[in-house]
Amino acid sequence: MDVSKMCVTTSSEFSLASVVEGCQLPVHMLKTDEWPLAEIVSTKEEDGRQRFYVHYIDYNKRLDEWVTEERLDLRRIQFPRKDRDAPTTTTQGTTTGLNTPKKKEPSSTLPSRSGSPVQSPEPHHMAGTPNVLSAALLRKKAQKRKLPSSEEVRPGQAAKPTGRPGFGRARTGSMAVHQDDVVTRVKNVQMIELGRHRIKPWYFAPYPQEMTKMGCIYLCEFCLAYRKSSKCLERHIKKCKLKHPPGDEIYRKHTISFFEVDGRKNKVYAQNLCLLAKLFLDHKTLYYDTDPFLFYVMTECDSRGNHIVGYFSKEKESTEDYNVACILALPPYQRKGYGRLLIEFSYELSKFEGKTGSPEKPLSDLGLLSYRSYWSQAILDLLINTKPLEGQETPQITISEISELTSIKKDDVISTLQWLNLIHYYKGQYIITLNKELIKTHLRSMGKRTRTIDSKGLHWTPRDWSKRGKW
Ligand code: ACO
Ligand code: ZN
Repeated sequence: MDVSKMCVTTSSEFSLASVVEGCQLPVHMLKTDEWPLAEIVSTKEEDGRQRFYVHYIDYNKRLDEWVTEERLDLRRIQFPRKDRDAPTTTTQGTTTGLNTPKKKEPSSTLPSRSGSPVQSPEPHHMAGTPNVLSAALLRKKAQKRKLPSSEEVRPGQAAKPTGRPGFGRARTGSMAVHQDDVVTRVKNVQMIELGRHRIKPWYFAPYPQEMTKMGCIYLCEFCLAYRKSSKCLERHIKKCKLKHPPGDEIYRKHTISFFEVDGRKNKVYAQNLCLLAKLFLDHKTLYYDTDPFLFYVMTECDSRGNHIVGYFSKEKESTEDYNVACILALPPYQRKGYGRLLIEFSYELSKFEGKTGSPEKPLSDLGLLSYRSYWSQAILDLLINTKPLEGQETPQITISEISELTSIKKDDVISTLQWLNLIHYYKGQYIITLNKELIKTHLRSMGKRTRTIDSKGLHWTPRDWSKRGKW
């Protein structure tokens, strides 16, 4: 919301009843014990008390919540001006990916920026790449505010809409980018139960209204059917034959499996999966035509079956080389390396296809952090293991070679090298310089990784969907 459209008033001039949608005021955020500026998104009366749904302006929407009067700093309220656009139609803070946020979610830790000053025992000369690179560097300069990977994004921070063409209502994977309205800005599901997990949703998802009125939605963890009570779910479970996602199991290593689910052949499952995913994915509207997508569902198995951990969707044919449309690790599994595993698997598929790929944009705040971390590790791993050829003093590798060997699209390779601050112009050419500290940090973090994709576990033949008349 444009603050210039607001007018400041002192508390003596109004009553609580005048705190309406569109007002902005500091609100006590319990998590941090701070009073960041928030917008009133909605109001309601419950148990005889007025409640206000607030969006903390500089924070991600998943922190939005209902609060009561004592958490509002009414002395510093700003009212929306009636003669201007209705502020509730603003989309500020509703996208979660590309732009520089102002503050951070306090409980989160950021990956450290590992690019240190050049002083390399091992410069990597990038033969034959100045044009690509110069263009990229120039573009970076010119569009500094637009490049996702060169921006500081911290989890929990809101990002303003990019205003880029195509990001408006374009279909993006199994979901579409959307503009918020008052209804979809308010979380509508209090809780879901999925197998042994009870999970608090982050965002709105269009489950049927009669479901959202209940305190909790009960999901079958295998077919993802939803029911309004545990009794109803019990009845379903007695009849449900699935013990794993439908489709083909194309990967298995230890307890981790991946199932490939065709959105055309398993439409109901695919729609249920998208509905579930929407609870944790912002800036996406549900897109019911799942036919053009494949869904790669990652599970962990035990004696009771294969339990869903996360998934990513992928267009059967992507004109823009997207290898992921939407990606999600369910909250109970987050920050444990599963998201990275999903990303690694998506690139493993691209390697099998002999293609380079990139995730569909915009990325969420957490998506960007995870991708940046994956790209950095994959590229550093390759650079560290590149040895000089006979007669060469230093190892040489081009951007194209890095891209081909990792299946990471060139633009993402360049933005990662820039973000790591590894590219330097030296004596007429671009060189990559790695310092010992960076190598040490990288090797340490690789050593800590317990879960990785083993290509030997993948049993999959890529299909050429363009050759088929119909998906
Ligand atoms: N705070 C700080 N860093 C984080 C956080 C966080 N909350 N979450 C992930 N990261 C970083 C970590 O730095 C980690 O790198 P490291 O190994 O160098 O420490 C890296 O991301 C990967 O961590 P994982 O534990 O593997 O990631 P996780 O299992 O949490 O999954 C994911 C990441 C899939 C993005 C998850 O957060 C999620 O599902 N979020 C909700 C949905 C979403 O935003 N999806 C991406 C949308 S973009 C798109 O769909 C193309
Ligand atoms: Zn079921």
